[in-house]
Amino acid sequence: MKTRRIAIANQKGGVGKTTTAINLGASLAAAGRPTLIVDVDPQGNAGSGLGVYSGEGEKTLKDVLNGLCSMTEALRPTAVEGLYLVPSSPEMVSLERDLLGAQDAPLRLRRAVESLEGFAYMLFDCPPSLGLLTLNAMLAADGVLIPVQAEYYALEGLTQLLRAVEYVRGRLGHPLEIDGVLLTMYDSRTRLAEDVEKQVRKHFGRRVYQTVIPRNVRLSEAPSHGMPVLEYALTSRGAQSYLAVAREMLAATAV
Ligand SMILES: Nc1ncnc2c1ncn2[C@@H]1O[C@H](COP(=O)(O)OP(=O)(O)OP(=O)(O)O)[C@@H](O)[C@H]1O
Ligand SMILES: [Mg+2]
Repeated sequence: MKTRRIAIANQKGGVGKTTTAINLGASLAAAGRPTLIVDVDPQGNAGSGLGVYSGEGEKTLKDVLNGLCSMTEALRPTAVEGLYLVPSSPEMVSLERDLLGAQDAPLRLRRAVESLEGFAYMLFDCPPSLGLLTLNAMLAADGVLIPVQAEYYALEGLTQLLRAVEYVRGRLGHPLEIDGVLLTMYDSRTRLAEDVEKQVRKHFGRRVYQTVIPRNVRLSEAPSHGMPVLEYALTSRGAQSYLAVAREMLAATAV
């Protein structure tokens, strides 16, 4: 099976990276594509949002990146059929220090997922920074998916993010694509959201998903129940819009 690996990244905090990882992941799994979410963020929100908690001695991404176990050993099923998770650990904040001097530090995740079979999609939920963890995700990915919150300062950080993508492509020679820009938390009652959408579409053109994710209270409630919105409130606009994003992604990447 061919695998499409996608880093969900934006160094701006709270723009919907984790919400997208969980709900796009669940939507792809529901479409019959086995999907793995790798929680690359020490905050561990993808794990808690999916109701997966790590007990004593259970392997996490930290062990994988430190070379102590394989990805398969850290892999966990979720309550959603076909959706799997590799959980993070709060201790990953010290990864940069742990791997100090290791030449291959930025390539640890790529090495770990390279030989992992059986998934149509892998989604890397990145932390809100452009440090070593996000770099690992970008170097392990075929493409980057950028959630952009439809509000005023939305575009400001994007230049920096695109520069990071350019660096990975140019200096590091890794053919990372832009797998799309996704407008999130869209409030259709405001002129502002419309203006931001116009700007983003003008700048990124066809790389912007047609589907926009509305601000939807079900999307923010679902994680506290430890489930994707698809399970929590299937008919909500939040669930339906992530299903639509998955359909667009399937049409574009055809895995
Ligand atoms: N479309 C939406 N409608 C309503 N609430 C949303 C929506 N998307 C995300 N949220 C809420 O906004 C908050 C931030 O979302 P999320 O955790 O997905 O962002 P993030 O980019 O992963 O944040 P961080 O940078 O801290 O990792 C969460 O409380 C989430 O439930
Ligand atoms: Mg997050």
